[in-house]
This record gives sequence, C-alpha cells and structure tokens, in this order.
Amino acid sequence: MRQDDLILGIETSCDETACAVVRADGWVLSNAIASQIDLHQPYGGVVPELASRAHLRDILPVLQAALGEAGVAMGEIGALAVTRGPGLVGSLLAGFETAKALAYARSIPGWAIHHVAAHVASPFLGGPGAGGEGFRPADFDFPYLALAVSGGHTSLIAADAPGRMRVIGRARDDAAGEAYDKVAKLMGLGYPGGPILDRLAAEGDPNVYSFTRARIKGDPLDFSFSGLKTAVARLVEREGAARFAEDAQAARDLAAGFQACVVDSLLANVERGLEQEGMSRLAVVGGVACNRGLRRAAAERLGGVSLVFPPPRLCTDNAAMIAGLAALLGGKAQPLALDMNVDANWAMS
Ligand code: KG4
Ligand code: ZN
Repeated sequence: MRQDDLILGIETSCDETACAVVRADGWVLSNAIASQIDLHQPYGGVVPELASRAHLRDILPVLQAALGEAGVAMGEIGALAVTRGPGLVGSLLAGFETAKALAYARSIPGWAIHHVAAHVASPFLGGPGAGGEGFRPADFDFPYLALAVSGGHTSLIAADAPGRMRVIGRARDDAAGEAYDKVAKLMGLGYPGGPILDRLAAEGDPNVYSFTRARIKGDPLDFSFSGLKTAVARLVEREGAARFAEDAQAARDLAAGFQACVVDSLLANVERGLEQEGMSRLAVVGGVACNRGLRRAAAERLGGVSLVFPPPRLCTDNAAMIAGLAALLGGKAQPLALDMNVDANWAMS
C-alpha cells in the first residue's frame, strides 16, 4: 500500500451507519455518519431489527456522502475496510455484504476489521474528518494501554503494536455505557443516557448519594457495573421516581454520585493496568470517552501519563477508525473473502 492510497471504511455494527475515506497515512478526508438515535429513543435502547433495516436504507446514501465530502469518486478508492464484528448480527451484515459487493464489483482488496481494535487504534487518525490535525501528544505511540468504554464494551487493552492487542481486563456484566443508559432510563431521562447524566452530574454533589466501588476478587482489572445499576434502582424505588423528576437538584446529585462511582472504578483499573504492564501512555476510546467527568478526573489523577482522548466524533462509532486500523496494519489485516461471514462475538485475543 502506498501512503497516498485511499481506503473506504464501512461500519454498521450497532446503531450508526458510517462510511469514511481515509488516506493510508491515517489522514481522514471524510467521516459520514447516519445516527439512529431518534429511531431507538422511544425504546430506551437499540432494537436490533429496526437497526438492521435502517442500515440497509442508509448505507448507500452514507457512502455517497462520504465520497462527496472527500471529493473523490468510487473509482479513486484503492481498498476497503469493513467491520466484521463484534456487534449485532443483522446490523453487521448490512455493511459487510455491501463491502463485499463493492470490492467484487470494483476489483479492489478488502479487509475484515475488529470493531474494538479499531476503537483502540483511533488515536492515530488526523485530518478534517477527525476534528482537525493530529490530536495525540508528540510522544504518543505504541505500546500503550487503551480503556475501551462504550455501550457494548468495557475493556482494558494492552496495545503493543497495531496487530498485537491483548485484552487484560473485561466487563463481567453491564458495559459502562449500558449502565449510563439503564440508569438514565430508571430516572426517567432520555436516551442515550450518557450525555444527559454527564450534563446533570456537572451540577451535582457526588457526596449526597455514594455508591460502593465494585472490585472483582482475583481479577482486579475486570469491571462490574450491574451492582451499581441495582443500587441506583433500589434508591429510586425507595425514594420514589417522582422525587427525581420533581427535584432537579436531587437528580443532579444522583447523576453526580453515579458518575463518580463509574469514573473511579474505571480509573482504578487503569492505574492497576498501567502498573502491571509498565506502560506510561493511555488512550480512552469508545462513546463513554466523551464523558467530561472522566476526562477531567483522568487528567487530574494520571500525572506523568501521556493521555489521549480522541475528539467526540472519533469516540462514538465511526468508519474512519475502521479504515484507520487497516491503514495502520499496512495491508496485514484479515483479507475480506466473498464467502466470509460476520462474527457477532468475534474475540479480540
Ligand atoms: O461507541 P458508541 O457510540 O457505541 C457503542 O459501540 O456502544 O457508544 C455509545 C455509548 C452509549 O451508551 C452512550 O450513553 C455513551 O456511549 N456515551 C456517554 C457519553 N456520550 C456517549 N457516556 C457517558 N458520558 C458521555 N458524555
Ligand atoms: Zn463501538
């Protein structure tokens, strides 16, 4: 692959239909995303059947938007990269089959990319579709620790090289973003819950409602948020849901107490992971990396650590990171074969 080759990225693993054009040196020319938030909002979570239908409707217009934004024609695309998993099977299929058809019709190579590994590699992107120039500190490179936090995953990953990523901590139950979404639902707030609770938490007192930080015996790098979710559910039941709907300050304090517990639990494992691996660089990736409380606490707590939080457009699901990982792998990603299937539970290591 030459540094000026153009890679088309396609991502449809959950509820964002996304296409992006990325140069082989990681420069993002375009990063088009059709979000399904309004579609799933009434249900307080993603409805898989509705998601896959919306992907099928949106994938070609989003592809056109990505090419248009980049100012290139399909004939100028040299290769493509698509998410093979993990994710919702019907959603994955929409992007995967589109990618196979395009690769076949245009006779260009394609690569099957792991969604979480692509999140982990997102710090290496830059350019107009990535929110500006490069955003990582000058000394940021492999090896580093990544905290991948979203609605579907919460893991600690030791990234030794683009093709060598080891999962050293994982979610035992709910993912961090899922906990945000469920707690917001319990409190009668909207969907997705993360940004709403983050806003409320900024004006709340985290000491009014305090929650126990879960720690898993024998596996100190694993995460558990279901106990926290249950504790919030009990509190809401005890005090009455109306209390949090009527008393804005009570809702802010509960959001702040919940967020302090999530942030503290995440950063405690990060500190242990950095120590275990002898690493001094951290990337926080995935939708929850947009969280302002987490960003502030990480900067305060992790002195001496070279820290990257990608811009929000690269934290939530996007196709730039999919093409970006293919670029970093320099053609060593898994080749896309016409008889290959998606893998909804694709393990990372
Ligand atoms: O990476 P993403 O777009 O999709 C998944 O792969 O899940 O992440 C979406 C998740 C949702 O659970 C959402 O509530 C959460 O990221 N999220 C946040 C914030 N913004 C998005 N969580 C906490 N604070 C935020 N500011
Ligand atoms: Zn994701």
